[in-house]
Amino acid sequence: MKTYLVTGGAGFIGSNFVLYMLNKYDDVMIINVDKLTYAGNLENLKSVENNPRYKFYQADICDREAITEIFANHDIDYVVNFAAESHVDRSIANPEIFVETNVLGTVNMLQCAKVAWQTGDDTYKEGVKYLQVSTDEVYGSLGETGYFMETTPLDPHSPYSSSKASADLFVKAFGDTYKFPVNITRCSNNYGPYQFPEKLIPLIMNNTLKHKDLPVYGDGMQIRDWLYVEDHCKAIDMVVRDGVLGEVYNVGGHNERPNIFIVKTIISYIKENVDDTVGEHMIRYVTDRKGHDRRYGIDPQKIKDALGWYPETPFEIGIKKTLKWYLDNKEWVENVTSGEYQKYYDKMYSGKEEL
Ligand code: NAD
Ligand code: DAU
Repeated sequence: MKTYLVTGGAGFIGSNFVLYMLNKYDDVMIINVDKLTYAGNLENLKSVENNPRYKFYQADICDREAITEIFANHDIDYVVNFAAESHVDRSIANPEIFVETNVLGTVNMLQCAKVAWQTGDDTYKEGVKYLQVSTDEVYGSLGETGYFMETTPLDPHSPYSSSKASADLFVKAFGDTYKFPVNITRCSNNYGPYQFPEKLIPLIMNNTLKHKDLPVYGDGMQIRDWLYVEDHCKAIDMVVRDGVLGEVYNVGGHNERPNIFIVKTIISYIKENVDDTVGEHMIRYVTDRKGHDRRYGIDPQKIKDALGWYPETPFEIGIKKTLKWYLDNKEWVENVTSGEYQKYYDKMYSGKEEL
């Protein structure tokens, strides 16, 4: 039995990872540690809440005492640190919490794991590993050609990506300084079930269904490299098991699409399958995001060659599965978008001018 301490397991990717691992393996125990911010939702994990191989703790990754106690309660083999403030627009409005959770929280997780696993000077319990879930945004923005490689210099632009890059540097420092067993994965934009509807795909889907304006930042020609969340979970599983200690692995799938293409794809799917009154007339080009990165694109050759990982889900299939999931789970969407989120969205959107 291998025991994983997963942080942020009630969020979008974290909950997909918890479900993926418990469904795939019989010899895996998951300890999920989540603060339950606006982005954390235990409803995602209803199907496993009574599973004896799953345990949940509500705790902040910055809390030394709470995390130390969790390490004392369980014989942890692997840490997978998903917990983060993850939304770029929120980081522009309020950077401090991004430093607290993403930088200080990561350092606290590293310190607690190091203390729990240490057997001597720079030696650790056999087989343990700390995996930091990072992002392609730490590399900055690409021009029309080329891809991010693991050797691409870090050049973050937003407060979010700067906090993630800082965290990556601390993870590297623990590997370099203390010979602490680490890996970093840097992934492109994920999409799929349980994504909070402040991110492009679920936001456009939800607004289209509700006949609300569809905000497209700037000219809508920014490019993101979309990856179906299950393919990301598979990559993390592989890196935890077989990644070479100290290495960074980029995860992405040559699925680059301009934002406006994504928006139009969602509209046409809903028009064909759900409601023929929706259409491109609902698109509003609005004030651009400050410091908006123009293009992300991952070169996944290293993880393909080293671990045999590849993105299995073509975009055309993944987007249909995702849209179907949101249609089948309207109650989930209602629950997470009512109340405080609705106030946040109305305030943020009303601050944007139509171009
Ligand atoms: P998310 O915002 O959906 O979920 C984050 C989770 O972390 C939530 O459950 C939240 O409650 C929890 N959390 C926040 N602060 C915490 C704290 N201080 N202590 C404990 N828990 C806390 O995020 P996501 O989209 O699932 O992203 C997960 C990770 O993957 C993040 O580290 C993010 O940077 C990274 N990532 C995301 C994407 C993407 O496209 N979503 C792509 C690449 C990398
Ligand atoms: O690249 C990986 C990153 O992808 C992750 O590290 C982040 O956690 C994740 O949030 C995501 O960041 P993005 O900023 O790329 O995702 P978002 O969904 O916020 O925006 C995608 C693109 O769509 C971006 O170019 C901004 C644009 N956009 C977004 C929203 C919410 C719009 O045009 N309109 C919108 O309403």
